[in-house]
Amino acid sequence: MSATLATTLFALLVAAAVVKSDQDIYIDGQLINGWQNWGWGTVVNFAATDLAIGSSSISAVSDAYAAVSLKSPATLSSYAGIKFDIAADPASIQLSFQGTADDAQSASIPLSAISTAINPTTFTTVIINFCALPPNGAPLGAGAWDRVSWQALGSGASYHLDNIQLLTSIEVAAEFLSAEPITSDYIAVTTKGDVDFGTVTVTLNNQTIAATSHDTYVPPDTPSRTITYLKLESSLAPGTLTISAGSLTASYSLPPAQQGSVTTSVTTEISPLIYGVNWPPSASYITQLGVTISRWGGNAVTAYNPDGDFTNSGNDWFFENRVHGAGNADEWMGWVKAAGSQAMMTIPALDWVAKDDHSYSYPKSLYPNQQKFDPYKTDAGNGLLPNGSFVQPAPDPTSAYTPWNTTAARKWLSGLVNKPEFVFVDNEIEITANTHQDMHPELMTYDEELRRMVEYATLAKEVLPETKVAAPSTNSWWFYWTSGVGYSDNAAHGNVDFLPWFLGQMKTASESAGKRLLDYLDIHYYFQPDVTANDDATKALRLRMTRSLWDPTYIDESWAGSNVQNHQPNGAAIWLIPRFKQLIADNYPGTKFSISEWASTADADITGGLVTADVLGLYGRYGVDAATYWTNPDAQGPVGLAFWLYRGSGTYFGGSSVQVSLTAENAADTYGVYAATEDDKLSVVIINKDTKPLALNLSDVPSGSYFIRHFGGASGIAKWQTTVTLSSSQYIVVPAYTAVFLQQS
Ligand SMILES: *[C@@H]1O[C@H](CO)[C@@H](O)[C@H](O)[C@H]1NC(C)=O
Ligand SMILES: *[C@@H]1O[C@H](CO)[C@@H](O)[C@H](O)[C@H]1NC(C)=O
Ligand SMILES: *[C@@H]1O[C@H](CO)[C@@H](O)[C@H](O)[C@H]1NC(C)=O
Ligand SMILES: *[C@@H]1O[C@H](CO)[C@@H](O)[C@H](O)[C@H]1NC(C)=O
Repeated sequence: MSATLATTLFALLVAAAVVKSDQDIYIDGQLINGWQNWGWGTVVNFAATDLAIGSSSISAVSDAYAAVSLKSPATLSSYAGIKFDIAADPASIQLSFQGTADDAQSASIPLSAISTAINPTTFTTVIINFCALPPNGAPLGAGAWDRVSWQALGSGASYHLDNIQLLTSIEVAAEFLSAEPITSDYIAVTTKGDVDFGTVTVTLNNQTIAATSHDTYVPPDTPSRTITYLKLESSLAPGTLTISAGSLTASYSLPPAQQGSVTTSVTTEISPLIYGVNWPPSASYITQLGVTISRWGGNAVTAYNPDGDFTNSGNDWFFENRVHGAGNADEWMGWVKAAGSQAMMTIPALDWVAKDDHSYSYPKSLYPNQQKFDPYKTDAGNGLLPNGSFVQPAPDPTSAYTPWNTTAARKWLSGLVNKPEFVFVDNEIEITANTHQDMHPELMTYDEELRRMVEYATLAKEVLPETKVAAPSTNSWWFYWTSGVGYSDNAAHGNVDFLPWFLGQMKTASESAGKRLLDYLDIHYYFQPDVTANDDATKALRLRMTRSLWDPTYIDESWAGSNVQNHQPNGAAIWLIPRFKQLIADNYPGTKFSISEWASTADADITGGLVTADVLGLYGRYGVDAATYWTNPDAQGPVGLAFWLYRGSGTYFGGSSVQVSLTAENAADTYGVYAATEDDKLSVVIINKDTKPLALNLSDVPSGSYFIRHFGGASGIAKWQTTVTLSSSQYIVVPAYTAVFLQQS
């Protein structure tokens, strides 16, 4: 859009706003102007008087993931934003927008990311600007938006809302969101509104440093947050740095440099397939984040019936059949591959798949006494008695399913137009007595799991000989070592833990088949420590627990470190990647190692993004062969930005990981530094997991011109990229809670 056109449109919008007034949704006593509550699982009182501004407020008590969801009779597109008063525990609720006509769904905004002032005992006024949603500043974008939902998180929520109003205009005051030193002589300033850079002053140890130039960028996906790079006339150095402009003043204590070195002669190959996600939402997402591999996986695909594209959601949602949200698997592979990503397909390997788009396993009419029913489909229950035991008798599988076997799978795989690069033999099959209790209530044993893996791997290799087979996609640390039955099953197998046993058995089966049946040992890895509190201590724990991926001296700070039942060496340390490389070398050499589900533990928090950047660095350094995130992180959120950092929009970290040494004690708790080379060009990713700036003296990093990209900062929002000149690598500054990518030009 040209500047003139933009100005004209803006003027038109302002003119329109003059004749339109704000719209009240709730003031006292009831919803007005045609708004309705389409919420679920929530006890709502529209005339609560226990905490109210005016005569009453809305009080809501929601079950886990239940919501107050207010529906407008018209779309919200002509409004600038929404305003409300809320009293709530900010950690218990997220806000989102929906469109009824087009099924539009916005990113979820945690209340904690909106304002730190929000609390359960008094009302806090919140304004959400539709052009700049918190926390990233992305616009709400196109959609037939007509619903706003306050949704409880996993522990439920009890809260009050009052004075809910649509706004016709919002004035964005010029404001510095952050101003932070970066590399050896730059300041990155993120702003809202129209900021005058003529007023910026920078001092270091009371000496003014002039800015010799400034370049301003408007990130296309978050245009409300512009970023300006100020080039300083002299280098940063230890001491006190102040930056001020208008009403903003930021001050930093720049520390002495930590010593580090990069040795480009010591290399490990980095697999390009570690930068994957599950279920990328679009081709543009694949490009923007640089997603190299995409997985069709998760609980629901266990019951995927390619004849109709039906699935069953299992115990994730009342054992209901539906048409799969991603549609047809073959077509999905087609667009995913056309977008430049490899495709990973899951083959169901139980005896049943969904028969239609609407049946379910536990109708109230058959099983009246159940713990929970679907609020949207009140006849569908969760298959549990109120005391948590399974209802009896077990349902007839044919009520929701149709038989499935290798003949059906052969027919499907042979007819594919778009062939997957990888197939998985089912998903977390060891917990099927729980996730799919309606069709496989028996506890999975070592022997049954192996039988199914061998049958379907054999079939896949016959039909798609070029495709890599990955299995068994075990869900967690506990089940790496035992079966659904538990340790009596280990005892029946010579006390050999499950995955080492499985590898040995797959080697034997491959030898008798005369070909390799298992190319990748696949696991899911979810960090075990409890970090739900998200306070300073748990953020620090989240940021250091990445050590579980590689460090033999890191005893896991969870049950895994204290309740050791496995028979593995050093069994209280997870030590994940080296452990599995060794396990493979001992039991089935030549097998590759993949992690098809893993997650940051806090997708909307900057610390979750830093964990992700750290993990991607570690996967490269320690030689994971393929990995896909669960599921598809918000492209503008911290986790999406971590993918963008390494691979976004054509950027390339490098194919060879090179050695990095840091001399600081416990460096891995607070820093992640990764380096790679490609065509003799060096790339370095530096992740500062600390709450204060880091300065590094990285020997053997050549000075010169570098492409730089970064995200994070104390406010969690700065992101963008430019070209800088590194005059010296003896003092490279990385702000608190920030990840920086540098690549030699
Ligand atoms: C900077 O100025 C302040 C106030 O005048 C003074 O207290 C401080 O010691 C000075 N710092 C340096 C590094 O000179
Ligand atoms: C739950 O109730 C059922 C039926 O009364 C009973 O058979 C079962 O043992 C109970 N389960 C538990 C865990 O108490
Ligand atoms: C799969 O089921 C079909 C239909 O019952 C049957 O004809 C076929 O032989 C079965 N395939 C295998 C491998 O058992
Ligand atoms: C940086 O490290 C090198 C040795 O690798 C050393 O010679 C140099 O003095 C250090 N510079 C600073 C500013 O600490």
